[in-house]
Amino acid sequence: MRHTIAIANQKGGVGKTTTAVNLSAALAATKRKVLLIDLDPQGNASTAAGANKNEKNLFEVYTQNLPIQDSILKSSGGYEVIPGGENLIALEVFIRDNQKQGELKKLLIDLEYDFIILDTPPSLNQLTLESLFAATATLIPLQCEYYSLEGISSLINTINTLNNKNLTNNRVFGIIRTMVDMRNNLAKEVSEELEKHFPNLVFNTLIPRNVKLAEAPSHGVSAHTIYAIFIWRQSIFSACWRTY
Ligand SMILES: Nc1ncnc2c1ncn2[C@@H]1O[C@H](COP(=O)(O)OP(=O)(O)OP(=O)(O)O)[C@@H](O)[C@H]1O
Ligand SMILES: [Mg+2]
Repeated sequence: MRHTIAIANQKGGVGKTTTAVNLSAALAATKRKVLLIDLDPQGNASTAAGANKNEKNLFEVYTQNLPIQDSILKSSGGYEVIPGGENLIALEVFIRDNQKQGELKKLLIDLEYDFIILDTPPSLNQLTLESLFAATATLIPLQCEYYSLEGISSLINTINTLNNKNLTNNRVFGIIRTMVDMRNNLAKEVSEELEKHFPNLVFNTLIPRNVKLAEAPSHGVSAHTIYAIFIWRQSIFSACWRTY
């Protein structure tokens, strides 16, 4: 069985890309065949994966009818990647103007991977909707701060609406609390609120705030960083694996 997991939350900077990249690497490390698709014009997942943002991406695949295989690159993390980049802004418009909604789901059918991980932009736009159509599950990273619960309900409602219209088999697979620092009272309050509102969706595993992890993209990889990332991957991996 193939799993296609969208990592989504329209709020920015909550750890979507960090989750997508580390989950891909963790799954690849356990010998699963993994494809990471960067659907964000910022292209942060591509940078983290060591992929060139100027290579072909889904923009060329959609607009020039190229085979999706032509956009797949190898990453430094043992998984494969379709890079993101600025031309995905134009792809967003192209999908809307040409009624191409649901195309990604069709494009992924023939690909042979154990897991496809979709990193989405901080908006509920056409690119995110493409991911929600194509996914079999959505993982929502959430930072325990003011306003973090706003937006979650509309994301969950969107997924349920697509599901009720038989447009997708997607379901919300869980909410994962990221960058957690329980010394912070607000984080504790929001965390409790979240457990109250979504008791069946919140993963018990918390992803701690880890400075080494934040520094990793700018400083290259050190022994400490490898250790920090390893711990992080163990946390997210065990959280996700609980459900699958
Ligand atoms: N557990 C963590 N500990 C410390 N820093 C983290 C952690 N997770 C993510 N970060 C840092 O927080 C910032 C935002 O993370 P990330 O880019 O993954 O969020 P995002 O939701 O993908 O953002 P965007 O909405 O802009 O795409 C980054 O600088 C990242 O390095
Ligand atoms: Mg991101």
